[in-house]
Amino acid sequence: MTHQKLDVLADKGFVVLDSYGDLVDPREWQALEYVDWKSSGDTRFAPLASAYGEIECNGFWHFDPPKPDKDGVWIDSQTQKAPTLSWRAQEAGANIGRCRVIELQPNSYADALYNSHLDDNNRLNPEEEGWIVRCFMQLTDNPNSYMILREDVKDPSTETRIALPAGAQLLVDSERMWHSVWHQGDGPRYCLITSFETGPELEKWVEANNPTTEVVQVELAVEAAAAAEDEAQNRRDARTAFYGYDPTTVRSEA
Ligand SMILES: [Fe+2]
Repeated sequence: MTHQKLDVLADKGFVVLDSYGDLVDPREWQALEYVDWKSSGDTRFAPLASAYGEIECNGFWHFDPPKPDKDGVWIDSQTQKAPTLSWRAQEAGANIGRCRVIELQPNSYADALYNSHLDDNNRLNPEEEGWIVRCFMQLTDNPNSYMILREDVKDPSTETRIALPAGAQLLVDSERMWHSVWHQGDGPRYCLITSFETGPELEKWVEANNPTTEVVQVELAVEAAAAAEDEAQNRRDARTAFYGYDPTTVRSEA
């Protein structure tokens, strides 16, 4: 028995969906309560749904009773401040686990590669049930920032760079695809990240949003990209030497 997965993610591990047309009022994510939570880079998170309705970001398996990353509990004090964001996450009709807004400070391409990681999405998830994937709904308009996806973190030829203008929507099997965001900008980037359980509801919503893996790749200057690659891999190697293992091979709980 294996988890039920979405056929549309089988090939590349991600799809880009139609951009969301009606942009969300920034006051929704600005009003939320954020908690410091280390993810890839300098980040904070504002949870909208958590394991048991508290304003925290822990993996659901850390609680008593532990549970997989689904059946998240909506946090009233947060959803009241961000009704559109809450509605957007629930519009798909899929089972939702963690749902939160991430705030990411500007970084470099090398930083993004250094921070690239896999998510821990399916711990305790029964095999006969749906696979948990992540949906990224870009809130701020950052057309020069990119979601950096790699099938193999050490192989730049497996990289896809997806631009992040306001409204961009992507669905990523983030336990399979190495990922991080290269955020170029003056201020922080905000994005709604939702753990969705694969199933008929999610499949229907994805199909209605014209999933594609045909992404226009922004080309990087060859020398600068090679220098960033070297820097990132050297930093990754140094971190591995320091810890005695590569901490990014331990799937991220963020
Ligand atoms: Fe992640």
